Amino acid sequence: MNMRRDVDEITGGKRLRRMRKAEWSRRLVRENLLSASDLIWPVFLMEGDDSAEDIAAMPGVRRLTVDRAVEATRRAAALGIPAIATFPNIPMERRDRTGSHSLDADNLINRATRAIKSAVPEIGIITDAALDPFTDHGHDGVLREGVIVNDESVALITEAAVGQARAGADIIAPSDMMDGRVGAIRDALDEAGYADVAIMSYATKFASAYYGPYREAIGTAGVLQGDKKTYYIDPANTEEALRETEADIAEGADMVMVKPGLPYLDICWRVRETFQVPTFAYQVSGEYAMIEAAAANGWIDGERVMMESLLAFKRAGCDGILTYYALRAAEALQNRGAGGS
Ligand code: PBG
Repeated sequence: MNMRRDVDEITGGKRLRRMRKAEWSRRLVRENLLSASDLIWPVFLMEGDDSAEDIAAMPGVRRLTVDRAVEATRRAAALGIPAIATFPNIPMERRDRTGSHSLDADNLINRATRAIKSAVPEIGIITDAALDPFTDHGHDGVLREGVIVNDESVALITEAAVGQARAGADIIAPSDMMDGRVGAIRDALDEAGYADVAIMSYATKFASAYYGPYREAIGTAGVLQGDKKTYYIDPANTEEALRETEADIAEGADMVMVKPGLPYLDICWRVRETFQVPTFAYQVSGEYAMIEAAAANGWIDGERVMMESLLAFKRAGCDGILTYYALRAAEALQNRGAGGS
């Protein structure tokens, strides 16, 4: 076909493909790299000894007893993963209206923290301070006459957080979205002598359908009454997400998180650009399940999509990613060198 203008005329002589011609030149101009240091591994805990349970909606992810979690954490540390985040599946008979078992020094989270801290002291331990694993209605706070009451929930979450610090947690991660909880936790930690314990706030946590498989994992899927729209952020809102983040930073958050991850990369970017604080994304259970389901059907190359999805968080400005892929990705990085392909 006869072109009206030749390509050099159209591009002004620019040839962007020049640097893409070989692997060495692609590597040379690569702007973002994923490393094991960017990964935080969420670990599901269960009661018992020396066993693990599959989670149907999260193939490849298992609930672990504390001893198994210690072993797995050892592997994570050896792969260069800096931190893990624990999530407990609490037996139903331990759950009640106010999540009172969250305050028990010997609950599953706290026992796991003590065991992991003494066996693998070089890895950071992040504990989630929300009440949902402990309430019989599956909400993150206290439910009274159909309402999740803010201030009473903050008081309990704060007390649970101090207990987690006492057990040896390095970072408290409040995932409940109650107003004022970051400041209340900061005050309480300082007062109890845990000024060194950091806070990673789930600053922008959206009322998302992507959390489904997680609720199976911690056993809240069948018990959750209603939804969490009165405390998580509306997926339609950006400015509100920024106001939430600003409030959490002002109250003392050391790090902030955006959750879910991939569908909310715009929020990651806006948060990083606006506040310049360490920013993390949580690639949540539903995101993991989607990739795994498509990969299992042979519709996508799961390994490559995993690496590409994690790299996308780096490109969007995240300092790190909470991901169920942490071990697999760290292994892949070790085998192939950083960057993915
Ligand atoms: C609740 C909590 C949620 C997740 C972690 N902590 C959301 C929820 O159950 O409403 C989701 C994590 C995931 O989907 O991977 N405090």
